[in-house]
Amino acid sequence: MKLPAWLKSAVFYEIYPQSFYDTNRDGIGDLNGIIQKLDYVKSLGCNAIWINPCFESPFMDAGYDVSDYKKIAPRYGTNEDAKRLFEEAHKRGMKVLFDLVPGHTSDRHPWFLESRKPERNEYSDRYVWTHNAFDYPEGYRWMSGMQDRDGNYLVNFFSSQPALNYGFEVQDFPWQLPPDHPAAQATLEAMKDVMRFWMDMGCDGFRVDMAYSLVKNDPFRTGIKRLWGNVREMFEKEYPENVLLSEWGRAEEAIDAGFHLDFYLHFNGRGYNALFQEGASDYVDKASEGHCFFSKEGKGDVTVFTEEFLPKLRYIAGRGYLCLPTDNHDMIRYSRFRSEDEMKVAASFVMLLPSIPFLYYGDEIGLPYREGLTSKEGGYFRTGSRTPMQWTAGRNRGFSESGGELYLPVEEGASPDVEAQEREKNSLLNTVRRAIAFRAAHEALQAGEEMRVLFAEKGKYPFVFARGKFVVAVNPSGSAAQAPVAEGRYKSVFFVNAEARIDGEKCIVPPVSLTVFEKE
Ligand code: GLC
Ligand code: CA
Repeated sequence: MKLPAWLKSAVFYEIYPQSFYDTNRDGIGDLNGIIQKLDYVKSLGCNAIWINPCFESPFMDAGYDVSDYKKIAPRYGTNEDAKRLFEEAHKRGMKVLFDLVPGHTSDRHPWFLESRKPERNEYSDRYVWTHNAFDYPEGYRWMSGMQDRDGNYLVNFFSSQPALNYGFEVQDFPWQLPPDHPAAQATLEAMKDVMRFWMDMGCDGFRVDMAYSLVKNDPFRTGIKRLWGNVREMFEKEYPENVLLSEWGRAEEAIDAGFHLDFYLHFNGRGYNALFQEGASDYVDKASEGHCFFSKEGKGDVTVFTEEFLPKLRYIAGRGYLCLPTDNHDMIRYSRFRSEDEMKVAASFVMLLPSIPFLYYGDEIGLPYREGLTSKEGGYFRTGSRTPMQWTAGRNRGFSESGGELYLPVEEGASPDVEAQEREKNSLLNTVRRAIAFRAAHEALQAGEEMRVLFAEKGKYPFVFARGKFVVAVNPSGSAAQAPVAEGRYKSVFFVNAEARIDGEKCIVPPVSLTVFEKE
């Protein structure tokens, strides 16, 4: 098994297509808009993009409810546009990952429309049904009484998202089919066919939605590992340069299963929230009493992160990488509760870890989290993190020339935009660029290279760690902080906001700042 070489220096940009850039004035972003902004994305230093689902869908969950896996949703353009996007990205040395949602379809997908029929057919067992409408075993989420077929069907997420049947590793009931059942195998083959379809067109791989969830009743993860092992084999044989990235949150399982990459996330673990998300919303698990490390408040606990992250890195070393996002379409944007200076420090930190950085569109300018918006397409609290990109100070903030309604409203009045930040040498935008360029210039800072903790103590600041010959000292708190350093000569080579200094055997780090030293 091999890791494509391009991953080592990869820096990703996540694009929520409906909110990025609209080129046909319908108020919704489109693929052509992404193509037109590729040079911008490249100018950030990002050399890969991940696009949230852009397939035909009734949009009950923003496109995570697919009704045709092989067709670009008309509101985003055509399959021809997708092909052009791959070509234009490749011309610029960039990679494109699509978002694959293999666990469930929309309840309007033709497979489901067949499956729900009372007459048995090829698709009857491609979803999970009980054998009669009065049977809804506990521990599962059923839709009942909705169809003529006698039985209830399993849903994965929202009610509009029936679970595809990949089988049950342990079968306790007659309606639970084993993973090697022909229907379960056919589901997997259908999904591989979808992957081949896009990769043959030029797509470089997939971010895989809820990747852990496919095989049910799988206590030792044997079923799900077999499944993804099978897909990885296809990649090794047919698409060795392409990648599989899981939304899993347990790299120790995902990489064993066959993924090249796994996200380090706000669920299935506590370290991510302890860094960035605690205190952001009620949805966040409290690992360090509601205080995150990256806050001026200075009450966070970085050890919740280090004690989780480092063992994961060690476990997957040489076999896969972690991916660490600034936030994403499912989280509260990091701009909430953070000043521009705090975001500069947080974003730069993401660029200096041995994980692969993912920059969520808009985070490079501090696009705000919008409170109080009515839910759009199943977004609920997530809607506030999905508003249009703000390119200029002009009409519709340069997102769209539509005279009508936009997908979601842009911010009026004082609010960041790309154009203004391009002009300012020390803007968040240009700081993010510098941090990415610094990573790109030094192999020791890239994915999979070593990380040694030099100072991380419960409830204390700063956090100091080594990456090869570099030492990174970061202090997100609002007061100066100091840490002991080993003897030696250090030269500051990169800093954000204010420069730390070495005084004898101490490193003194100013409030809300980050410095990288090179050890001589
Ligand atoms: C993933 C997606 C999320 C979606 C859900 C259901 O968590 O990131 O946006 O709602 O899966 O597909
Ligand atoms: Ca459009």
